[in-house]
Amino acid sequence: MRVIVADHPLIAHKLTYLRHKDTDSPTFRRLADELVTLLAYEATREVRVEPFDIVTPVAPTTGIRLSTPKPLVVPILRAGLGMLEGMVRLLPTAEVGFLGMLRNEETLEAVTYANRLPDDLSGRQCYVLDPMLATGGTLAMSIQYLVERGADDITAVTLLAAPEGIAALEGQLASLDVPVTLVTAAVDERLNEDGYIIPGLGDAGDRLYGVV
Ligand code: URA
Repeated sequence: MRVIVADHPLIAHKLTYLRHKDTDSPTFRRLADELVTLLAYEATREVRVEPFDIVTPVAPTTGIRLSTPKPLVVPILRAGLGMLEGMVRLLPTAEVGFLGMLRNEETLEAVTYANRLPDDLSGRQCYVLDPMLATGGTLAMSIQYLVERGADDITAVTLLAAPEGIAALEGQLASLDVPVTLVTAAVDERLNEDGYIIPGLGDAGDRLYGVV
């Protein structure tokens, strides 16, 4: 798995305010949206394109456009929804599929509770959105699911990642022959005993949408 830590002062600035415990939900949502737009630039560096013949006001030329099949953006419910607009803003032809996953707070294992995805993902590039790569269970399960349906190139976009989560993901995806890239705004220190990223930003879903 290729890991890209998007190292940029604007990203670090926004991330710092996102982490701050006094940042309220509307500001958190706006910052998450802006951060994802910056991450999307990095995450789509290898999006597939095809030549496109056009005529400018003065001459014909060949440019490029995003090719088909269209890329698929998959936010993992619920916290991944806070990343959707920021991603599709930069990827206008993308379609969107949804995966609902939550983690069992005792075992920390991921459980699927909703799935709205095309059956056949053959030849499609997929962008999985999940703000927090903590234990790696949710992302690993999502990526395996997309590959089983035919996706042939996967990029996971996260706001924060724990070293333990990256290692777990690398282990669990080692046997896949599909390229997987992780793009994240930062790799934090560690996970605590409750599976929270330290220093992290708390529960991303709660901070985006309120406590459930
Ligand atoms: N999920 C979150 O929302 N926050 C964490 O720190 C870990 C997992």
